[in-house]
Amino acid sequence: MDENGFEIGMIGLGVMGRNLVLNIADHGFSVVGYDKDPSRVKALQNEATGEKIRGEEKIDEFIGRLRKPRAVMMLVPAGAPVDSVIRDILPYLEPGDLLIDGGNSFYKDTVLRAKTLAEKNIDYLGVGISGGERGARYGPSMMPGGRREAYERVRPIFEKVAAHVNGDPCVTYLGPGAAGHYVKMVHNGLEYGLMQLIAESYDLMKRGLGMSDEEMQSIYSTWNQTELNSFLIEITANIFNAIDERTGKRLIDEILDEAKQKGTGKWTSQEALDLQVPAPTIDVAVGMRDLSVFKKIREEASRSLQGPSPVYQGDRQEFLEHLKNALYASMIIVFAQGMALLRTASNAYGYNLDLRAIASIWRGGCIIRAGVLEHIREAYRSKPELANLLLDSKLGHQDVVRSQGDLRAIVIAAAEMGIPAPGFMTSLAYFDGLRSAILPANLIQAQRDYFGAHTYERVDEKGVFHTEWAPVKG
Ligand code: 6PG
Repeated sequence: MDENGFEIGMIGLGVMGRNLVLNIADHGFSVVGYDKDPSRVKALQNEATGEKIRGEEKIDEFIGRLRKPRAVMMLVPAGAPVDSVIRDILPYLEPGDLLIDGGNSFYKDTVLRAKTLAEKNIDYLGVGISGGERGARYGPSMMPGGRREAYERVRPIFEKVAAHVNGDPCVTYLGPGAAGHYVKMVHNGLEYGLMQLIAESYDLMKRGLGMSDEEMQSIYSTWNQTELNSFLIEITANIFNAIDERTGKRLIDEILDEAKQKGTGKWTSQEALDLQVPAPTIDVAVGMRDLSVFKKIREEASRSLQGPSPVYQGDRQEFLEHLKNALYASMIIVFAQGMALLRTASNAYGYNLDLRAIASIWRGGCIIRAGVLEHIREAYRSKPELANLLLDSKLGHQDVVRSQGDLRAIVIAAAEMGIPAPGFMTSLAYFDGLRSAILPANLIQAQRDYFGAHTYERVDEKGVFHTEWAPVKG
């Protein structure tokens, strides 16, 4: 630190906060950390080397060490803890200071907090940070939103600490207000969708083909060398290698099949419903996590509700080839849903999002990083206004159209075996829905008009129409 004080402060020295502090200091910036819990401050002091890092146990001393105008980042759990930190720190902040929320806050909360602070001339940035503990330490993907001038103040730090892909930092200014937290929310919705698809592929191999953990490890690791290359496939392969210290068995089989969640995927679905942008693969991903928690009922139903034998009868090699291609096609389809939601939100909230830039910063550091993002980025580079990713010549016309046979084969096989694969099924239905110039919504309109005089539009004339339908007998 120089005589003017530390360049940035960090409130919240849990693993994420501490790792980000270490990462910031590694890049030559001075950073002071604060946490209410003195043991966390000590943990930081223990890991810190050199002059660039300092930990403080008292908030006034922490504030006193910062260079003015101050830049303070919070890395605390979303929700009430963020408001509590804001309450604690506000008396010490002055006009011109900048407060940054680096957690997974709900974007509407960010809007309100930014408004409250703006009244005191304090800037507020909502920054989605992805990549978990390792990402925070060695390079996350960062999704900042707020006033551009405020971002410019911390840009040199963010560009250094973020992950880099081919020399480009995985961070860029995304838009005003809560744009950053919004994009992070959709990132997490995509994370849920991709995880659900991978989980279904696991179920189909495990139950359908009776494959061992070892065999599946090898499949995922082979897939990771193909167009499926991604962080989530890579960690999936590694998971099948892990041995449980307690039992000496594969750890995966000792983990209870009840998926938890902190809400970001659900928010994405709720947002998609509010903005009326279909995101069915994300919806079912949330729903299947919910269903997994009904373990007792599932156990009871498994004894009483009979279904077909979940054993695949056809050619195993062919099935695995279908599965790999179905996963790739579905991956593109779920990205198409997420990007379409971002496009609509951008218009609805005035974010002016650059979808190419978003695909760029998701190529490294974050949980959904994947080879396919290079193609998604290219799709928006060649056509910034692309209405849906599936209309891109490579991703839609070439890749998904070519793999649709595989996706259909997997959906059919899953239905025949009675293995739930709603991620694959809804991805296929989204694709088929999108490529249907004619959908049966005319019947829905007729029914609405029949029972509620809700009116309908016609194919041959503008305006709204109502019919006196035949009276119902019953
Ligand atoms: C990330 C992750 C991270 C967090 C998830 C977990 O981008 O680094 O998304 O933010 O681990 O939010 O979410 P659930 O607990 O809801 O699965």
